Amino acid sequence: MKLTPQQSLLHWYKTHGRHDLPWRTTDNPYHIYISEIMLQQTQVKTVLERFYFPFLERFPTLSELAESHQDDVLKMWEGLGYYTRAKNLHHAARQCGGNLPNNAHELMKLSGIGRSTAHAIAAFAYRESLPILDANVKRILHRYFALLKRDEKKLWEYAYTLFDSKHPFEYNQAMMDLGATVCLARKPLCAVCPLEATCQGKSEPLTYPEAKIKLQKPVRNRSIIIHKRDNRYALTQRTERFLHGLWGFFEAVEVANATPLGHITQHYSHFTLEADLYLSEESFDNERYEWFTLEEIKDLSLSCADHKAVALIKQTV
Ligand code: ADE
Repeated sequence: MKLTPQQSLLHWYKTHGRHDLPWRTTDNPYHIYISEIMLQQTQVKTVLERFYFPFLERFPTLSELAESHQDDVLKMWEGLGYYTRAKNLHHAARQCGGNLPNNAHELMKLSGIGRSTAHAIAAFAYRESLPILDANVKRILHRYFALLKRDEKKLWEYAYTLFDSKHPFEYNQAMMDLGATVCLARKPLCAVCPLEATCQGKSEPLTYPEAKIKLQKPVRNRSIIIHKRDNRYALTQRTERFLHGLWGFFEAVEVANATPLGHITQHYSHFTLEADLYLSEESFDNERYEWFTLEEIKDLSLSCADHKAVALIKQTV
């Protein structure tokens, strides 16, 4: 008997799916929501090993998240990157008064929840019959339907075409697993793919979709001065959009009377930071800055670059 593509996919999921991921074995919508936000730009392994459980332990319910201080949410997000996700999560918890909506239409009104994430939460938590369209699923659809052009609106139509509306949970989880383990970006494993029989792009999967024009990432060269006084260091909480809410050291235009500490490189999504670090014990009066010991700095949320700066300080003391 010939299986439909959907049957073939679900059959494959039964034997090869990652069934024991903790957000797949729970029906707690809040837990599922947290996992989907964490997984937006971060790999399963990182979320699973370092962030998912500590976050839920610290904020066991959406109400507790809503009542918490943003700094505490950022602290639990430290190291996960893309901090806007944490701020949106906190804001969304307040928007809905700690009661997560039970359908995709309402979920989409909350900060940080786009259409695909709303569909994922609704399908996984409430079995709402909606397909997802994250980066992995997009790649599968581009290949399966042999689509060269990147057209979000068209892709949603194709997402519904392949979707198994009777099994939203299994179908969507299966598509995620297929994207993560078989329909790989650089090395698709078509020989073991459950959709191979009907895939239109299987003879040349790497041609779909057409390559993006890669723009060179700009480099930002900066000088960072770590001001020190009585074993305390000056930090300020960022108010600008980028890394908003995280604490950081002083960025200088000119450096005088400071000792070079080293150099750090940090890759961000839209630029690379190349920073020379200096230590200064000259007087520094700036009311936007507060003074912290190394022990106290541990309790602040810092960006990865500022963590590297702290590591350099520790080498000198
Ligand atoms: N990425 C986004 N959502 C996911 C999920 N539910 N399981 C595995 N990876 C994911």
